[in-house]
Amino acid sequence: MKNIFLLVFTGAMLFLNSCSKDDNEGANALEAPVANPAKDVNNTGFRAKWMYVSTAQSYLLDISTSADFETFLPDYNSKPVTDLNEVVVGLDGGTRYFYRVRAKRDSEISAYSNVISVVTNGVSSIPEDPTFLKVKANALQHPFFVGMAVKASQLETGSQYDVILKNEFSSISAEYEMKMNPISVASGVYNWEAADKIVAYGNDNGINVHGHALVWHVAVPDWLTNYPGTDAEFSNEVRQYITDVVTHFAGKVTSWDVVNEAVDDTGNLRNTIFLQRMGPNYINQCFQWAREAADAAGDTDLLLFYNDYATSANIPKQNKVYELVDALKASNLINGVGFQMHNTYLSPTKDQIETDINRAVSKGLKIHISELDIQVNPFNDISTFTNERRLDQKDKYKEIVKIYNAIPSANKYALTIWGMRDNESWIPYNAELNHPGNDWPLLYDSNFAIKSAHTGFLQGLD
Ligand code: G3I
Repeated sequence: MKNIFLLVFTGAMLFLNSCSKDDNEGANALEAPVANPAKDVNNTGFRAKWMYVSTAQSYLLDISTSADFETFLPDYNSKPVTDLNEVVVGLDGGTRYFYRVRAKRDSEISAYSNVISVVTNGVSSIPEDPTFLKVKANALQHPFFVGMAVKASQLETGSQYDVILKNEFSSISAEYEMKMNPISVASGVYNWEAADKIVAYGNDNGINVHGHALVWHVAVPDWLTNYPGTDAEFSNEVRQYITDVVTHFAGKVTSWDVVNEAVDDTGNLRNTIFLQRMGPNYINQCFQWAREAADAAGDTDLLLFYNDYATSANIPKQNKVYELVDALKASNLINGVGFQMHNTYLSPTKDQIETDINRAVSKGLKIHISELDIQVNPFNDISTFTNERRLDQKDKYKEIVKIYNAIPSANKYALTIWGMRDNESWIPYNAELNHPGNDWPLLYDSNFAIKSAHTGFLQGLD
């Protein structure tokens, strides 16, 4: 009996000892450092900082211009440092750098710290890429149109708009002048002047023209808003308008946003005058009328799109849009989906955009990123266009262009930017958006100079 007790007791001691030994080893394992935000940032460098790690004898510092540390700054690939900070000098201005650090004790090296990003002050010595957007896009194995939203007044021969459009863009959309309210003066009475100028500019210069938009609740002329007739007569006015416009531009316009923004932000049919007076089937009816008019005019290749915004981050809305799209597809009435993509430097995420777009890809539909702009000041927390937001925006343009360029060729159509110069964008101080301040959402600054966003677009085509 005594021997058994001794045997059990000894075993227990050995077990406890091994645990405690493990615990001691666990307790003594070299922890990964915590990296802190950089200090003393200037035009040519910064002070990288991190926290002390118990028993560490030194630290190994990595610095890179890429978040995944594909490459390292010279001398900053696991550079041994005994302090808890390193003053880094000789860097470029207006450039984003990343750093991380590991602790070292004898031959033991800890895991990596968190990664800190820091943008140096001043201006980068590296110029923006002057390559023309459509030249690079047209050289792709599977090209797509690079689009720009335009106004008729911009299209004077020799204007800076004219020069940039002919050099850089292969598609145009009317920002305003091909909507119902500027065209439809009264029942059966049309003002085609501005719309014809835009369409002729595209046709005369080998630039694709996308029609925006036949039916949109924000672009209803007063005479139709206050229409005194019956609902049936209202519906017939809409049918007549769609028929006349599609017929007028037959063979000159490649595609139309037949209905724009029919789904509200709660994921229900938006309670527009069209829903109220024509009923929930109005969307199918509008597509049917557009298709009939195109076929009657011999424009059998006309592409019909449904266009909307913010479906990537709003799943109820996304689901409702695809419910409409499925119904239109079942009737063989739709060719494509327009994703407006009025995005910010933070949202939607890459995954959200890819998930949204891929639902349309899986349905065999054309994809049009139809109104891309990327806000950098949605919360009005900056008063000037900072280096950080300039580079954030560049990354976001690169990201979405990369996403679009990766979809199958059969689903490609166009990626359209919603305006030329920052100072002309609809976004700054926009009440509809509840945007509280200035913003710089586009590819060109107020002097028509290309921005880092333009370089990001080009990088997305790699
Ligand atoms: O051209 C007239 C001018 O003659 C008149 O003096 C002036 C004052 O009334 O208005 C000028 O027209 C303005 C037009 O833009 C041209 O700049 C309209 O009032 C104004 O409402 C119109 O705003 C456009 C808005 O759609 C409404 O049509 C914006 O430029 C345009 O960026 C915006 O674009 C929409 C898309 O079509 C759909 N998705 C959302 C996007 C942003 O709201």
